Amino acid sequence: MEKVKIVYWSSTGNTEAMANAVADGVKEAGKEAELLTVDAVDKAALLAEPAFALGCPSMGSEQLEEDEMEPFVADIEGSISGKQIVLFGSYGWGDGEWMRDWAERMEKAGATVIGGEGIIANEEPDADAVKQCKEAGKKLAGL
Ligand SMILES: Cc1cc2nc3c(=O)[nH]c(=O)nc-3n(C[C@H](O)[C@H](O)[C@H](O)COP(=O)(O)O)c2cc1C
Repeated sequence: MEKVKIVYWSSTGNTEAMANAVADGVKEAGKEAELLTVDAVDKAALLAEPAFALGCPSMGSEQLEEDEMEPFVADIEGSISGKQIVLFGSYGWGDGEWMRDWAERMEKAGATVIGGEGIIANEEPDADAVKQCKEAGKKLAGL
């Protein structure tokens, strides 16, 4: 891939910090990263790629953010069969249910979730979460 696309939604910056860590991993692997908030993404350009990263925190009640991310995911869901996707996001008081649901949804749509599950961070990503995001970025860069 020419550029690795990392699409995310973030309100208070925690998922954005994870997106930045994925981008750092891509760059460390010698590739270019393109960070895009979900409102700015070109759907056709994203779906032209074999692999990309999607990030969203747990919102609502263990749901994707409803105004931008949920409609976007619903929109691409029918076109992601065969794609390799890194999922990541931050949460607060839950146990990561939204991410388990999201990963299952993407797998049901025929995509492969890189690493077998989404990367989650409790509020601000700690060193371990940052490391996982960077590793995921490196994997994406190698595809
Ligand atoms: C309206 C709203 C709903 C939320 N719902 C959940 C939830 O269901 N489960 C959970 O673990 N955290 C929930 N959170 C906490 C956020 O997921 C958490 O603060 C996260 O770090 C925000 O990520 P961001 O900084 O990328 O916006 C919610 C936060 C808000 C503002």
